[in-house]
Amino acid sequence: MAVLGALPAGATSKVPIPAIIPQPQKLEMRAGFFMFERGVKVDADASSAATGKYLAERLRQGTGFKASKAKAGNGMIRLSVEGPMPGLGAEGYKLTVTPESVEIQGVDEAGVFYGVQTLLQLMPPEIFSATPATGVEWNIPCVHIEDQPRFKWRGMMLDVCRHFFTKEEVKTMLDAMALHKLNSFHWHLTDDQAWRIDIKKYPKLTSVGAWREKIGFGLDPKLGTAYDKKGRYGGFYTQADIREVVAYAAARHINVVPEIEMPGHACAALMAYPQFSCTGGPFTTDLPGGVFNGIYCAGNDQAFEFVDNVLKEVFELFPGKYIHVGGDEVLPDNWKKCPKCQARMKEQGLTKEPDLESYFIRRVEKMINAHGRNLIGWSEIREGGLAASATVMDWAGGAVESAEAGHDVVMSPLADCYFDHYQTTNQAVEPHAIGGYLPLTQVYAFEPMPVKLAPQFQGHILGAQANVWTEYMPNFKHVEYMVFPRLCALAEVDWTAKSARNFDDFNRRLEIHCQRLDALGLNRRHDRADAR
Ligand code: ACM
Ligand code: ZN
Repeated sequence: MAVLGALPAGATSKVPIPAIIPQPQKLEMRAGFFMFERGVKVDADASSAATGKYLAERLRQGTGFKASKAKAGNGMIRLSVEGPMPGLGAEGYKLTVTPESVEIQGVDEAGVFYGVQTLLQLMPPEIFSATPATGVEWNIPCVHIEDQPRFKWRGMMLDVCRHFFTKEEVKTMLDAMALHKLNSFHWHLTDDQAWRIDIKKYPKLTSVGAWREKIGFGLDPKLGTAYDKKGRYGGFYTQADIREVVAYAAARHINVVPEIEMPGHACAALMAYPQFSCTGGPFTTDLPGGVFNGIYCAGNDQAFEFVDNVLKEVFELFPGKYIHVGGDEVLPDNWKKCPKCQARMKEQGLTKEPDLESYFIRRVEKMINAHGRNLIGWSEIREGGLAASATVMDWAGGAVESAEAGHDVVMSPLADCYFDHYQTTNQAVEPHAIGGYLPLTQVYAFEPMPVKLAPQFQGHILGAQANVWTEYMPNFKHVEYMVFPRLCALAEVDWTAKSARNFDDFNRRLEIHCQRLDALGLNRRHDRADAR
């Protein structure tokens, strides 16, 4: 109902001070508040209908009030796609809260969705409860916000190979990403320790490659959550599961980027199909971390045919522009010893093994481009020469050189974006991690635009992404612990203007934001005086 700023008789209501993460580009406080109560209508235009339903469902869950039916005299939340608006680009929106109404106008559907995320964060944190919260006054402060992202790739990578996470757990992460206006989910589906995506033409990839005898990595088996009836560790996604997750992500304006690793990190695939390796095996998925002997034979045309067939099914499942082919940490020992690989090098006039990796990636790039998609790979795909249309994911350097040569780049440097690293120097108080040290302050201070990159090339830096490698994260609660609140900081790095970033203010907002994470049931690291 419309309430003109004054509290209703007897009420002791407080209006929340905005604590929005990521911080909007422009936020103007105005007097008064809008009271969300039973009977308030959500009115969405045709283009915003799906987001209108999403909002109504969240409001119903948190408050118990159905927000879909109008009653005379009640207030109104209006959503609409307006197209271009002055000063606002793709994914931008305007949000205006008056005592009578809430108006969200998006440049596009994504903009409306982000306006809704901001609106929810203007409400008391209990709005994120799974069951209706009682005794809460759902007041929304009057504001005018104009907002849009700084970068177009705002991402997170989840490794589901070292440990397996169910599609429901993946959806939980997608919901959390949406809350933070992140839009790119990089799904690391294949590696040495597992192959997680059902490929109809090669059923052994999952019947063999999705499983190992033990949890691995020296971890206590009780910490694992993914065992089959025989006690083997593992799991995989059916094609129906993948379609479901991709649709769930799309409804949250998140693009899913599948990663099918090649030519290295392929033990699981080669355990299932050793004929595509140089040596014929044997291979195992029971590998400790840091062993990468599984590599496809670059001299065997049948190995390329295998990759082509796998990718054809991948294209059917993932409608997005980017297909990630890995390309990192290729140990060329097998290639050096393999007569077929050496013959290929001779035939192609290649003098060293990194040239052979470049040959491999260029050949796969043609398969990807033939289906109208773009190849993306880790830093090492630059070695031996970068494929013509490739996008580089910089974890180990190469952003400036790639951007200067006209390639797009996603920033994900080891020092600033690896959420498998410790969150404190006092490792004794933390669960065992792979190593490293990446405190919240450092994520927040990360600047994706390389200082040495001249302005005319800066448009090639698409954005930044967190990488969550899960060797030492045997269950999803542990993943959440490593991700939050660092992902909140990365979201602000990706979304908010550099000049508007302020760690003290972020910390103030984070205190309230953590109440949202708690209401959502997400695990997180609590700041501790003994572990800064
Ligand atoms: C990587 O961390 N090996 C991409
Ligand atoms: Zn070979």
